[in-house]
Amino acid sequence: MKKKIALLLMAAMTISTLVACGNSAAEAPASTTEEAPAEEAAPEEEAAPAEEAAPEEEAPAEEAAPAADGELIKVGFAQVGHESDWRAANTKNYQDTFSEANGYELSFVDCDNDHAVQIETVRGFIEQELDYICIAPIQSAGWDTVLQEAQDAGIPVLIVDRAVDADPSLYTTALGCDMVAEGEAAGNWLAEYLNGEAANILVIEGSVGASATLGRTEGFNNIVANNSNWTVLDSQSGDFTQAGGQEVMESFIKSYSDFNVVVCQNDNEAYGAMDAMDAAGITYGVDGDVTIISFDATHDGLQYTLDGKITCNVECNPLQAGFAEEVIKKLEAGEAVDAWTLVKDEAFVAPGIESAYAVTMSQEVLDGRAY
Ligand code: AHR
Repeated sequence: MKKKIALLLMAAMTISTLVACGNSAAEAPASTTEEAPAEEAAPEEEAAPAEEAAPEEEAPAEEAAPAADGELIKVGFAQVGHESDWRAANTKNYQDTFSEANGYELSFVDCDNDHAVQIETVRGFIEQELDYICIAPIQSAGWDTVLQEAQDAGIPVLIVDRAVDADPSLYTTALGCDMVAEGEAAGNWLAEYLNGEAANILVIEGSVGASATLGRTEGFNNIVANNSNWTVLDSQSGDFTQAGGQEVMESFIKSYSDFNVVVCQNDNEAYGAMDAMDAAGITYGVDGDVTIISFDATHDGLQYTLDGKITCNVECNPLQAGFAEEVIKKLEAGEAVDAWTLVKDEAFVAPGIESAYAVTMSQEVLDGRAY
């Protein structure tokens, strides 16, 4: 019945345009409707305190509990997969937030980076008549039909983390980080750091077609276009994994000898790239020949930044479930919701570097990073 109320609300909702997103390489398909095993879903680290995750837009504590009528609210979450430390932190954040103790029954499905599995997962949620569906889209394309099916069934859909390129009237709301801005932050920092020096750049992209990949690539290329002595020698997908990052870097090393910047579109790829450069005897970091830029700024990624190995690390905040819960609470209360919620992030640079675009790393910053 909650979904019927929500359907009525959807008609009154503001519609706005969204950033486009993307798809990613598929690996072994996962079962479409089973819950992920607890040990796969839960990373080692504790979830960060709410005020660190979303200080400005956190739902007020005094807001009514979602299960005030005694019924658990049924939420389906079609998660991308388990490709990165960022993803593990994001999964844990959803599982902690949408717990029974908080008034929810969460159907969590790890879609293992397989778009077809993700579509069928959403169809399963529709058949189960869940109250709300959260989708972290593996790829941006190919969503219109199933989103229409969810809308026809009266189930509000939240597009989370990554974006879709479907008509925004087909879903209730979207939330996540601005991936284009993240790419631009990386480029702006590099321009500031190089201060006119030439750059021969290799890019290890994320999963093909994912909005995180498309946005970061677009944003970084916007800054490349302003720097006539920068050349992007090559740009290949490492699929947001450590193994992918290592494989792509090994192949780059065979083909190029004159690079001085490597951009890795997430921390796990950076770990793989560093392994490949270590094996090839290539030095990197503030004291090395190659400058590494990474994205995510997870705890381990920031440890490498503090150590001066990753010189700049652009954050993508995985603690987004509180924003989704805030939307659901509003819908439960019969309130309108925003079409888009930005999850803010910032960039970090190695000690000794001052930047207008990034925070200089310190042990204190690292200690405050729980994921
Ligand atoms: O969509 C967010 C991206 O997806 C993160 O940067 C990456 O680590 C994850 O796999």
